[in-house]
Amino acid sequence: MLSNLSEHPADKILALVAAFKEDPRDQKVDLGVGVYKDAEGRTPVMRAIKTAEKQLWEAETTKAYVGLTGDPAFNAAMRRLILADAVEDARLASAATPGGTGAVRQALELVKLANPDATIWVSDPTWPNHLTIIKYLGLPMQTYRYFDSETRAVDFAGMMHDLRHAKAGDVILLHGCCHNPSGANLTLDEWGAVADFIEASGTTPMIDIAYQGFGDGLEQDAGGTRLLAGRLPELLIAASCSKNFGIYRERTGILIALSDTAAVAKVTQNNLAFLNRQNYSFPPDHGARLVTMILEDETLRADWEAELEEVRLGMLGLREQLAAELRQRTNSDRFDFIAAHRGMFSRLGATPDQVAAMRADHGIYMVGDSRINVAGLNAKTVPVLANAIVAAGV
Ligand code: LMR
Repeated sequence: MLSNLSEHPADKILALVAAFKEDPRDQKVDLGVGVYKDAEGRTPVMRAIKTAEKQLWEAETTKAYVGLTGDPAFNAAMRRLILADAVEDARLASAATPGGTGAVRQALELVKLANPDATIWVSDPTWPNHLTIIKYLGLPMQTYRYFDSETRAVDFAGMMHDLRHAKAGDVILLHGCCHNPSGANLTLDEWGAVADFIEASGTTPMIDIAYQGFGDGLEQDAGGTRLLAGRLPELLIAASCSKNFGIYRERTGILIALSDTAAVAKVTQNNLAFLNRQNYSFPPDHGARLVTMILEDETLRADWEAELEEVRLGMLGLREQLAAELRQRTNSDRFDFIAAHRGMFSRLGATPDQVAAMRADHGIYMVGDSRINVAGLNAKTVPVLANAIVAAGV
């Protein structure tokens, strides 16, 4: 039987991690996978996580199962972190998932149960794993224009033009903030126009929010999501705690579904429990418990928010430094978009040959579409990247 299997193409982001490891050069720079790194290249355990882990080790008396959709306290704390008071709780259903990817997968499984004919509309470009999960589940998919490779900003007119072809019951997949891979984001006014369109078309929005707190701040980054939740009858949200709590390997995420009525929310909740049971039964608890402890405790929360803000401002500083170095070297403002983008990523707009040249000649590793992870830089490597960009003729 197993001899029937054929190989799947490697995930481009994960393949880059392996290629970087194999490169013997000392001066190499890893701008690949979306993992935060400090100026020393470490991915630290956040202070509040360490404290919570210590407290949990002391206090935890059992490792018995918690619940099919996770701890209700985790669900409540995460709904609040993302949605604040944008909607009444009775219209919400939610389930803890293994990471943000688990939430994306469960959201799409839920769509498949509710409307197997739904076309999933994804931004061009989007996170590559969106595409492969949608394809794997056999759901129809279409792309809408999103990133203008000339201006390196959102092509909002193109986006709205393409979405006109979406039919009632289709799903519009959006990035809540810090668009991956482009770094270009919708303004609040544009979110409002998207809400108008969704309302009129009878489509359902699905928001992947994996970087809340990495863009303009915890509250601001949830602005678009809250706006849609406040105005629309339905919304699916796949959220990750990997980045903003720095707990990548703990696999902590949540799927939140907003329904039109409390009665529909109840049935949706039942379906989320069913899906968890079929796919992996009980979701992981350790990371979710730490997140809950932090969000519920004033001192831990203040420390977490302060550290997250340091991380955010550090990335912004690197963006500004890179844009300034490129302004100086090119005597132009054509790389200022790097400072205008938000989150971990920016798409530089380099060709595959230019990306290959930067890797071969300067040891700089970025995803083939020229996505850089800004957090992979530090004050010393920014000039190295700026030189490489200029030398490659980007
Ligand atoms: C990324 O886009 O690099 C991250 O979301 C990590 C991943 O799993 O791809």
